[in-house]
Amino acid sequence: MNTFIQKQLKYRSIRKYQDKAIEKEKAQLYLEVMRRTACRGSHAYSVIRIADQQLKHRIAEAIKQDYVKALPELMIFVIDLYRSKQIANLKAPEVEHHFYFDQWLVSIGDTYLAAQNMMNAIEADGLGGLFLSTVADNVPVIRDLLSLPELTFPILGLGFGYPAEDPELSPRLPLDIKVSTNTYGSLEGKYQALCEYDTEIRAYQAKVRGGEGISFTEATVNRVTSKPSPYAYLLNDFKDAGVDLCIRDFES
Ligand SMILES: Cc1cc2nc3c(=O)[nH]c(=O)nc-3n(C[C@H](O)[C@H](O)[C@H](O)COP(=O)(O)O)c2cc1C
Repeated sequence: MNTFIQKQLKYRSIRKYQDKAIEKEKAQLYLEVMRRTACRGSHAYSVIRIADQQLKHRIAEAIKQDYVKALPELMIFVIDLYRSKQIANLKAPEVEHHFYFDQWLVSIGDTYLAAQNMMNAIEADGLGGLFLSTVADNVPVIRDLLSLPELTFPILGLGFGYPAEDPELSPRLPLDIKVSTNTYGSLEGKYQALCEYDTEIRAYQAKVRGGEGISFTEATVNRVTSKPSPYAYLLNDFKDAGVDLCIRDFES
């Protein structure tokens, strides 16, 4: 099997790293792969490389993830319509500018694809990495730390380096449940597979974290029966960042 595919099939998050700097050319190469990623056209995201150790520490504290302090490299992916605004101000200052939600959606998709592509390059090169969505759980403080202007939004962090651990692969929802042909694949008839996945993930968690672990179905029920997380309020943060949410007024 192709070695790149082999690496992809063994993907896992790395949280412990060797105390070894990443060669400049390597970091640059991964950024080039990020740049090459398919994009819907607007290129409406920016990447901020965190080179200042103190800043990295402050980000780690803000997102309450201590191991972020020891990440050899940390990139923060930022949805960026401010660049569009600057370009519009330059090229069409006399016309009114709009920053509607569709532009944000496109940017979110493009950002995630670019970050995943960069992760593929990191993995293919024998290094390891970790995504961090906690930056989007702590927008005001990250915004402040990175001096983010209006119409920008920190959506994802990507840390990477030379791994100092080789964690066991965590289970993934089986293909039978996720994939169907020609029409929507109902869960009916797949409960056995679901139960087996529950058992597998519970055993994995008990082994890795101790305790009894929590099954996939339990976690799913918890998600849809508990209070909203900070992430659920993201639209408010988008609005504060200057986006026009285009919500229809159903009353009128
Ligand atoms: C978009 C995204 C955001 C994530 N954010 C975080 C995070 O903020 N902190 C963290 O420790 N792990 C984060 N993870 C890692 C997941 O927790 C991890 O992928 C999952 O537990 C499965 O483990 P594995 O990657 O080792 O297979 C994130 C993963 C993804 C895909």
